[in-house]
Amino acid sequence: MRCAVDPTLTHRSCLIHPLSGGSSRRLTDVWDLGSAEGSEVRQANERGLMAKISQPRELFTAKLASIYYVERELADKVLPELLEEIDNAQLKQGITGHLAQTRGHVANLEQAFAILDEEPDMEKSAAFDGLTKDHNQLVKKIDVQPLEDIVHAGAAAKTEHFEIATYEGMINLAESLGETEIIHLLEENLDQERDALEQVKMVGRQLVSMQHATV
Ligand SMILES: [Fe+2]
Ligand SMILES: [Fe+2]
Repeated sequence: MRCAVDPTLTHRSCLIHPLSGGSSRRLTDVWDLGSAEGSEVRQANERGLMAKISQPRELFTAKLASIYYVERELADKVLPELLEEIDNAQLKQGITGHLAQTRGHVANLEQAFAILDEEPDMEKSAAFDGLTKDHNQLVKKIDVQPLEDIVHAGAAAKTEHFEIATYEGMINLAESLGETEIIHLLEENLDQERDALEQVKMVGRQLVSMQHATV
């Protein structure tokens, strides 16, 4: 499922894009962001309407749509919500800084779409959604704030690992396609993900040792 994005709207118009060429075909009407989205994706899969990928360039475009979904979710929803739950000042400062960087990641990906002469579109990432769901489930079980911050730091580290692996794979693919400009954009994102991972790991270690000192 690909969703053509209009940042001025609160909802998206989802289209099936035949990746091997031809015109786009509207699958559904416009719907609001939220739980309805998942059911629409399932319906598309059930009907066997998902376009098949047969070329490296098509694979790259699919990966771009997936990481664009991830970065948009992080920038628009996941990181702002996480910031409201964090108590530790250092962790909050780190996540605040990375939220600003993440907005830049979104812009870089939109530039990559433009280089490919495509409209930005999103494809849901089940892996990312799973990480978020896991995190929310664990947080619900935590009873004291210092432990909750350790969980937040761990979730942030997992997300950075996920983004790093994604960008590394995409850069390999972009190299094979000779997309030099896009490689630079992805490398900028990757470098910031790596820095964010090191920072959140360091804060996570400090939170754990502070917790040890109190028991
Ligand atoms: Fe990112
Ligand atoms: Fe990140």
